[in-house]
Amino acid sequence: MSKLIVVVGATGTQGGSVVDTFLAEPRWKVRALTRNANSASAEKLRAKGVHEVVTASLDDISSLVRAFKGAHAIFSVTDFWGPYYDPATTPKATAAGQPKNVWAGQNEERQGKNVFDAAAQTEGLERLIFSGLSNATKWSGGKYTHVYHFDSKARAAEYGQATYPDLWKKTNIIQVGFYLSNILTFPFMRPQKGADGVYNFSFSGATDTKLPLTAAEEDTGAFTRALVVSPSAGKNLIAYRAWMPMDEFVAIVSQTLGVKAGIKAMSPGGGAWGDIPEDLREELTDNASYFADFGYEGRDDPSPVHPKDLDVQVRLPSVEEWIKKQDWSAIFN
Ligand SMILES: NC(=O)c1ccc[n+]([C@@H]2O[C@H](COP(=O)([O-])OP(=O)(O)OC[C@H]3O[C@@H](n4cnc5c(N)ncnc54)[C@H](OP(=O)(O)O)[C@@H]3O)[C@@H](O)[C@H]2O)c1
Repeated sequence: MSKLIVVVGATGTQGGSVVDTFLAEPRWKVRALTRNANSASAEKLRAKGVHEVVTASLDDISSLVRAFKGAHAIFSVTDFWGPYYDPATTPKATAAGQPKNVWAGQNEERQGKNVFDAAAQTEGLERLIFSGLSNATKWSGGKYTHVYHFDSKARAAEYGQATYPDLWKKTNIIQVGFYLSNILTFPFMRPQKGADGVYNFSFSGATDTKLPLTAAEEDTGAFTRALVVSPSAGKNLIAYRAWMPMDEFVAIVSQTLGVKAGIKAMSPGGGAWGDIPEDLREELTDNASYFADFGYEGRDDPSPVHPKDLDVQVRLPSVEEWIKKQDWSAIFN
């Protein structure tokens, strides 16, 4: 008998990776959730062979309850950045008297709680994989309080743990590592060519801080599969393909592509921030300092496990292979 995985965020990076992995599993059927089942992204899912594409929103618990029905496994991801950058958020945040990132964090926390509320009503559910991150305020002992996109996910998971002990026994948290693609997608991290011919990447923190680097578009599915098929739940996985500082990553870029590449730390409020708004500068600065002082996963938190600790081992390509796959032409011309 086949099993059903329901994937929140199926049209996006993390959920898309989970869809791809489970489509290759003969014993599993995939139900993809999206807010718009008629979009081009939804059509692509159908063309790939996704068994069902269903409309549901993280903002509407009843739609999640309907969409989760019959699931043996659920993968969920919440989205801080979509609402943060959505122009429709500005009037809402202004009306609430909040900076946009505070509003987006509260919004994401509410969406995460909706996932737990709906999953708790799902009969026959065997596994919930909740994409979370560490609680920076908590694990920094109150030193870094502006990492809203981490804290919101962590607070939703804390709610799930406290409110639904039975569901929690079937839940794994996956903390997806720092996306390698951030280098290409965040304009302020992109390298600038200096007078000496060196392409300098920018990074808003100490460049020798080890980070859990991941190709989220490939790795999320592989780790989710390992968590779903393993006999025990209750894991808090920090998911990555390499535990590596940015300066080592840039050295590999240099070596692999044969370009002169370097890295510069962005100073808080410094020129490299360009037109990044004040609330985001504060958030990213705290975020990088948190990584350096307390670890991406909150290293004093005893709960995270590393890929090597999983019951089912995950084999992933290397960082070098990811670099070779990317189109760098717009950067190194
Ligand atoms: N960049 C990093 O290094 C990093 C690392 C770890 C974690 N993260 C976290 O990853 C999250 C984003 O995940 P991603 O990269 O997979 O996102 P993404 O590629 O931007 O896609 C967002 C997905 O969320 C869905 N979605 C958004 N709002 C929704 C709603 N209200 N109801 C239902 N679905 C909704 C979208 O579906 P439709 O548009 O089809 O409805 C889409 O599939 C963020 O919260 C971020 O903090 C990022």
